[in-house]
Amino acid sequence: MNKKKLVVAPVSEFWGEIRPPSDKSITHRAYMLSAIAERGGVVRLPLESEDCDNTLACLKALGASFRRREEEVEFYPSALTSAPGALWCGNSGTTIRLLTGLLSGLGVHARLEGDESLSRRPMRRIVEPLRQMGADVEGDYPPITVRPAPLHGITYSMPVASAQVKSAILLAGLSAEGETTVVEPAPSRDHTERMLESAKVPIEREGRSVRIRPARPDRIEMTVPGDISSAAFFMVAAAVLGGPVTLKQVGVNPTRTGILDVLKAAGASVSVTVASVEQGEPVADLLVERGAQTLEPFHIAGDLVPRLIDEIPILSVLATQCDGVSTIRDARELRVKESDRIQTMAEGLSRMGVEVEVFDDGMAIRGPAKLTGARVEAHHDHRVAMSFAIAGLFAEGETEILGAETIATSFPPFESELRRLATVG
Ligand code: S3P
Repeated sequence: MNKKKLVVAPVSEFWGEIRPPSDKSITHRAYMLSAIAERGGVVRLPLESEDCDNTLACLKALGASFRRREEEVEFYPSALTSAPGALWCGNSGTTIRLLTGLLSGLGVHARLEGDESLSRRPMRRIVEPLRQMGADVEGDYPPITVRPAPLHGITYSMPVASAQVKSAILLAGLSAEGETTVVEPAPSRDHTERMLESAKVPIEREGRSVRIRPARPDRIEMTVPGDISSAAFFMVAAAVLGGPVTLKQVGVNPTRTGILDVLKAAGASVSVTVASVEQGEPVADLLVERGAQTLEPFHIAGDLVPRLIDEIPILSVLATQCDGVSTIRDARELRVKESDRIQTMAEGLSRMGVEVEVFDDGMAIRGPAKLTGARVEAHHDHRVAMSFAIAGLFAEGETEILGAETIATSFPPFESELRRLATVG
């Protein structure tokens, strides 16, 4: 792959309005459920990025019938069949884990594979419960092979809070005999549950358990809200550099809004104006600016972790500008993301002059730090690359991010949007 270098220079102001790219998690799910829906679906404003395009290409190879138009994809009723070649999932954990679950009871053969980063990510966490359901699935790491097998429902207590594992089991439950119940150790993002509910699939939720009975979704029709995980980079830039930044039409599902709690705890000013609800997903406009003169240190642990798991890289950048030691604990899952995010963030922040203590399950970061521009590695991780780009806005000298092509997995116009809101000098 083409290695791209992103160079960021310090800016004096950062303000304006942005509609962040559409939600990645919701786009993947809307594509998959539309592909198997009784009456098809329309996905408006899907995220156009490498990860979601990989899901769409996999579905096409599996025989899904759809038409891609400007700003929407329309799906027609079809039945998924065995794919002739391997299904390419690229960098996307959501694609490989959710598709494996979906396909395991559909009577198809499939081989799912991915890039260097995805090939290192653990798959036993889905393979094990799917096998308990009777699935013929193999691969503790990608590639994964799926062969036809009849499934039966199980009750499964998940050892880690993971929406991808929960969703893989629920999607398998759509074609299993009897009831399938998943119990989570802490609430993770619930987009799959909300979408299934709105597509009239029988699903019951009680506390931390979700129960599903076999069904075919009726129809999906939605406009995908903006992704709070992409908005996060601009929120932190606003909190540090002053803002104000208005973020339009952002998904504010409460299982995803942990970052808003942390920004407020740090003393940033955050206002949320709820605008609409899209297939069970609340959507709002957000306004973020630096409130207090001094940003306070913050502490992330426990049930808050799954509510901001993808925002920890950028929150570690925020921590460098807070007055004291901020801590992140109970976040061992960061070690098995697109990169080992504890390691990659600690490495890059140290290079930029920050004092970071590393734990097995998190980090302690001392602020306020005077950042110095440095050459840092993205390690095939879009969120790591974007986090260092934001740090570069308030570092002294130039920051060079190597491997910045990975940003295209979730936020292709990141660089142009960053430059549009920044005032240099
Ligand atoms: C996702 C769930 C999270 C998140 C990932 C997307 C999803 O992963 O980190 O970026 O779409 O379900 P886990 O479910 O593994 O925690």
